[in-house]
Amino acid sequence: MFAIAIDGPAGAGKSSVAKAAAKALGFTYVDTGALYRTITLYMLENGVELKDPAAVAAALPGLKVSLEYGDQGQRTLLNGRDVSEAIRTEEVSIATSRWVAHVPAVRAFLLDLQRELAARSNVVMDGRDIGTVILPGAQLKVFLTASAEERARRRTLQLEQAGESADFARVLDEVERRDRQDAPQLEQLPPDGVTLDTTGLSFDQVVQRLTGMAQERMDRKTEGEEG
Ligand code: DC
Repeated sequence: MFAIAIDGPAGAGKSSVAKAAAKALGFTYVDTGALYRTITLYMLENGVELKDPAAVAAALPGLKVSLEYGDQGQRTLLNGRDVSEAIRTEEVSIATSRWVAHVPAVRAFLLDLQRELAARSNVVMDGRDIGTVILPGAQLKVFLTASAEERARRRTLQLEQAGESADFARVLDEVERRDRQDAPQLEQLPPDGVTLDTTGLSFDQVVQRLTGMAQERMDRKTEGEEG
């Protein structure tokens, strides 16, 4: 199996880049943020006190998260129910970032599932601790980043394109707040990782660099196995 780990801060374009690279390479794209979001949704639906890590940990045995892959890409299931859309609300985003993703029991709960996915097929897996904790043996580990200003610029543009009001200064404020909340301690570059700073690069350029690096390493792996 060949695994590509993509870590980095929110808004660096991890999921769209990872998705496009997976498509180009014929790999499965695994969005691990969806797993954390699903746990948050379950806690919210069941009235669990999110600020209490012990209460969150105690509720974990009541839930099963699974991922399915088909024509629509990844679908996320919570106790068999498709929650792929329900986990995208602002409420879930904020609670995941602020509380749930920080609970060690939650991270431990999701560890095996993520490793099993990578054992089953070639993956491009995006998250925060994929290269360091989940798949330390990944053949390619990329830390995808961009300056806070660049991420705020992209987000502002997205909002404008969606017809929503967007004030750059406010968006930048939100990006910086999210960075502080999102466990920056997790976002470390493993010693054998590569940083890809996308500031000033187009989406296609980023995808090309990533697939180029992956191709190079796959060729090397094949040569190593043959030789
Ligand atoms: O990438 P995302 O916005 O869907 O992630 C949702 C939240 O989960 C975000 O607060 C970061 C957290 N997360 C994490 O801690 N570890 C991961 N591997 C993926 C996401």
